[in-house]
Amino acid sequence: MDRPIRVLAKAVRTRVKRGWLRDLLHGVPIGEPLHPSMASVTLGCWTSAALLDAAGGDPRAARLLLATGIAGALPTAAAGLTDWSSLHLEQQRVGFVHMAGNLTALGLFSASLMLRLKGHERPGKILSFTGLGVGMLGAYLGGHLAYRQAAGPNHAPQVAHLVPLGWHDLCPLKDLPDGRPVARRLGYIQLFVLRRGEAVTVLADHCPHLAGPLHQGRLVMENGEACVVCPWHGSTFRLDDGSVRHGPATAPAPMFETRIRRDGTIQVRPMT
Ligand code: FES
Repeated sequence: MDRPIRVLAKAVRTRVKRGWLRDLLHGVPIGEPLHPSMASVTLGCWTSAALLDAAGGDPRAARLLLATGIAGALPTAAAGLTDWSSLHLEQQRVGFVHMAGNLTALGLFSASLMLRLKGHERPGKILSFTGLGVGMLGAYLGGHLAYRQAAGPNHAPQVAHLVPLGWHDLCPLKDLPDGRPVARRLGYIQLFVLRRGEAVTVLADHCPHLAGPLHQGRLVMENGEACVVCPWHGSTFRLDDGSVRHGPATAPAPMFETRIRRDGTIQVRPMT
């Protein structure tokens, strides 16, 4: 599947260009991935329709739920496809089968609704139950993708657990190149350190998206604000506060306060 996966992922990245739409589909404005919450609405409608069918409920209510789920499937798929296009290949393989399962479920629920609208309730219900089974398989793979393969969670939240509160010596200011980010270790974690003259910016080095090394990223100006672009999938973070300017990351890069001692040693502490 690797060849069609590469072609499709590239096509999605080319069509949905970096900008407000792509950020919206990733969930940047709400600070969380958009796809899982939308998927729960779609699958919730379809599950409710199947429950109504099983309990002999109002057929009009079941049709309404089916139609709502089908209408929600399109933006859900758009959000999922956009996230999927910026994953590692191992994750994309599972995501591809997840997508195929969900498209099959969508086809079955759509056919079920058509049959019901033509008055064929019984075969419509059978297709709905089949669609729910396939949709559950797709949801299982989605869970595997999120929880086992860690596609979607924040990959940089551990700072608070690994760095004690308070100030810590990092390195002498004179050892840092001017205007070029470097990596420095602080205990268990790696830091992105950027010196600009006498000012020093420190972020956690692991990109919140999939832990890419931010110190290898490009420095750019976005609307007059200095930012760093992750070298792996292009997430862009403001250097002033670590907030996300562009996805796929939706969580900010953890930031550290800095100060310089009289002897020129840079000290850092996690920003609370
Ligand atoms: S690891 Fe994917 S954007 Fe940074």
